[in-house]
Amino acid sequence: MDAVQVLGQQIKLPYSGKVVPNRFLKSAMTERLCAWDPNNREECGKPTAGYINAYKRWGEGQIGIVVLGNIPVHRDYPEAPGNAIIDKNNPWDAVKAFKPVVNAVKAHGSLCIGQLTHAGRQAPDSVCQEPVSASDTKCPDGVMGLNFKPARAMTEDEIWDAIDRWSFGAEVLYKAGADGAQLHAAHGYLLSQFLSPLINKRTDRWGGSFENRSRIVFEAIKAMRKRVPDESFIISIKINSHDFVDGGFSQEECASMVENLEAARVDLIELSGGTYESLAFDHKKESTKKREGFFIEFADRIRPHIKKSVLAVTGGFRNVEPMAEAIKQDTCQIVGLARPLCAEPDLPKKILERRSQGSLENDVESSLQTPAAVLQIHAMAENRPIPDISNKEVAQDVTDIILGKKPIPHPEGAEYPPM
Ligand SMILES: Cc1cc2nc3c(=O)[nH]c(=O)nc-3n(C[C@H](O)[C@H](O)[C@H](O)COP(=O)(O)O)c2cc1C
Repeated sequence: MDAVQVLGQQIKLPYSGKVVPNRFLKSAMTERLCAWDPNNREECGKPTAGYINAYKRWGEGQIGIVVLGNIPVHRDYPEAPGNAIIDKNNPWDAVKAFKPVVNAVKAHGSLCIGQLTHAGRQAPDSVCQEPVSASDTKCPDGVMGLNFKPARAMTEDEIWDAIDRWSFGAEVLYKAGADGAQLHAAHGYLLSQFLSPLINKRTDRWGGSFENRSRIVFEAIKAMRKRVPDESFIISIKINSHDFVDGGFSQEECASMVENLEAARVDLIELSGGTYESLAFDHKKESTKKREGFFIEFADRIRPHIKKSVLAVTGGFRNVEPMAEAIKQDTCQIVGLARPLCAEPDLPKKILERRSQGSLENDVESSLQTPAAVLQIHAMAENRPIPDISNKEVAQDVTDIILGKKPIPHPEGAEYPPM
């Protein structure tokens, strides 16, 4: 089998029995394309035509699994203005509102999974004045230009409420026709805060030992299964291979975690890394550059702990050969892509049709690549040409927009925020 054939293979998920048509996964990316009105919180998070448009493009891209960008399960704790939100107390019909986006993803055979999240202490002060977390703590200011209010420890009732919200989110996704739900337990958001011994200083059954710190994750999985008893619904999770912060969630704990996730019949485990305190969407080590995946060496060590669940690794993959090599070597079974699919939403299709050997270069400075990708997603939503940031002039233009030197292209009357 050559590299393209490796990437074009189907794979069956062990517990749901769902078949992924190939080895590509679009990783969750915040789109910021849903309704946002700070003075009317109940209406926030409603899918818009632009949101659906963006997913139409991804749905046409022959991507095996498309994960919808993080969907907060509590409207008071979003990650950014314009997030899609599924809140059990919203007055609008979330099933009806999310059906069109699910249909857009599935129109050409991709599987659709929604990522359910709660930002916890990483809810910036632009959207949240009173964040909560596992313990009294504060996310350091200044990350990606964001500032944060101190977070207070959640009460036991609030923890159970969050668990109930994750299960409600799963039920909405299921009823809207999605193939599954993904718990966002990576990147320093609430579940990742509970997992971290550095942030979680609780002395009750939700803190202390690894078993206690991870309890919230397994209770959420249990609650999701109870609310969606149909076994064909995929339960997935995105977790860190490492927090890259001294005293944070470690590789050893990740290895125990995946064993327990498998025992909880989690179909798909997506491995990532880093938090707002230590961003990891770049190479941390010289040795991973050739293999492209930022977390590939961690995945090598985590993989033997998984027997049945399918492992995806996201971060850094750009070219066909390293992607296929990761699968051939059985480091992972699926490769996750994020930024490359903002530049080229149909990159997997081009690869599988042998019209591309890998993603376009990215000429935007590393720290500005996330907002650059958001600008590209907004261009998709608005049916504008996607800024080609492999072109130096366009990359400069995008950089100027992000730095506020040029206006953000934003349609008049749009329901969602400019970026
Ligand atoms: C614009 C943008 C938004 C992102 N939003 C999310 C998100 O909502 N949830 C998540 O788990 N990761 C999010 N990420 C991280 C990506 O899913 C992915 O893990 C990271 O970009 C590394 O993959 P890449 O090198 O292929 O871009 C985001 C990344 C970008 C660029």
